[in-house]
Amino acid sequence: MPIDYVAGRPFYGEYAWAYDLIISRNHRQECAFIEQVLTGLGIGRDAAILDAGCGTGSYCVELTQRGFRVTGIDRSSQLLMFARKKAAAAGLEIPFVDGDILSLEVDRQYDAVMCRGVLNDLVEERDRIQVFRSFTAILRLGGALILDVRDWEKTVKTKKAKPLFHKEVDVDGDILEFTSKSKLDLTNRFLRVHEKHKYRDDISLYDFIMKCWTKEELVRNMNAAGFGDIELFDSYTPKSVPNKTDRIVATGVLMAFISA
Ligand SMILES: C[S@@+](CC[C@H](N)C(=O)[O-])C[C@H]1O[C@@H](n2cnc3c(N)ncnc32)[C@H](O)[C@@H]1O
Repeated sequence: MPIDYVAGRPFYGEYAWAYDLIISRNHRQECAFIEQVLTGLGIGRDAAILDAGCGTGSYCVELTQRGFRVTGIDRSSQLLMFARKKAAAAGLEIPFVDGDILSLEVDRQYDAVMCRGVLNDLVEERDRIQVFRSFTAILRLGGALILDVRDWEKTVKTKKAKPLFHKEVDVDGDILEFTSKSKLDLTNRFLRVHEKHKYRDDISLYDFIMKCWTKEELVRNMNAAGFGDIELFDSYTPKSVPNKTDRIVATGVLMAFISA
């Protein structure tokens, strides 16, 4: 039985409250790009979007404020608790579902799926294929998929140069410390990560594996599930920013329902 790294990760569990303090992204700019891609595909505001692996819901809030009908789904009930609080604080009613993106139920009601920063958590080959089939179960034909993953080649460069990420934040007068050390496993295309959270008297240590992607694997798995018109970017911007990021942002359109 493979180890379930996601379920045990303090980052998504006991330290879910610290997630937004540790990770800062430009949600507004990234959602502007997502909207631009959707508009280009004829998917306008009011479209139904599933945010697969929504975490603390920042993208759900931003896209809902832009007029989309967004549902968030995640396996971490702790992160979802913060997503629900965030939506309520913004005065928005956003459905957040506790569920697994690998087994979405067929309903074909969504115009788009977004999946940001999630698919590196899938380490098993069969899950990396299944997840795209799962997305097709809830998308209509012509629906869009927008996602980002870690690019293996670029990650090798960035993590060789800088294997350590450290952040300190003042929380109620005490320092929250987060450290993440990554080791490259060149044989398996794994990042072996050692994470440490420290706050007041608590220290939490966690070792787990992420698996990065190559463009070939990503396109192959998207194609195999019925996605076409695939475009790849360096980040959530139409302009190329070579060597600035270690991500692949991919967009695609569901062209055909392919039976398993
Ligand atoms: C790095 S976080 C990104 C969260 C959010 N997309 C964002 O960009 O802020 C990855 C998220 O994927 C979720 N996740 C990983 N595997 C999942 C699965 N099989 N089903 C549902 N959620 C999953 C985790 O719980 C976590 O919230």
